[in-house]
Amino acid sequence: MSLTSKPYLQRVSIRSDAEINFNNYPYNIPSVRELTQLEFHPDVTFFVGENGSGKSTVLEGIAVALGYGPEGGTKNVQMQTTESVSLLHQSLRLSQSFQKPKDGYFLRAESFFNVATYMDELGYLDV
Ligand SMILES: Nc1ncnc2c1ncn2[C@@H]1O[C@H](COP(=O)(O)OP(=O)(O)OP(=O)(O)O)[C@@H](O)[C@H]1O
Ligand SMILES: [Mg+2]
Repeated sequence: MSLTSKPYLQRVSIRSDAEINFNNYPYNIPSVRELTQLEFHPDVTFFVGENGSGKSTVLEGIAVALGYGPEGGTKNVQMQTTESVSLLHQSLRLSQSFQKPKDGYFLRAESFFNVATYMDELGYLDV
């Protein structure tokens, strides 16, 4: 066990007991199929890869496994206006710091309009 407090999310790996069908999305994507373990930097980690290489799929899986809604926002925003959320989150094993973040936000550009509209309707965005 690591005794450093940062990063809050230290490692992500595929659970050894996960049931995986490599013929279907998301495991048919090479970067997901070969995802054995990701180690995060204490400050910031960048995912770099060509269009369609799986960055959003992996980030969505991590965010959902952490308790965020697949479309983003705080953990209180649980929006899912499409059926297209992958099952990757079910197979992820997260190693988290003993210190929990006070707050968090999954900023997802693809669906930010939906989340912002929802927050606006709730009266959170009075600008
Ligand atoms: N819901 C889905 N169902 C089936 N296939 C999907 C789904 N979402 C994405 N894909 C496919 O999975 C692959 C990875 O897509 P993803 O959006 O994760 O890539 P990306 O690295 O984020 O790309 P970009 O740089 O364009 O944002 C692509 O081939 C994409 O067509
Ligand atoms: Mg993407």
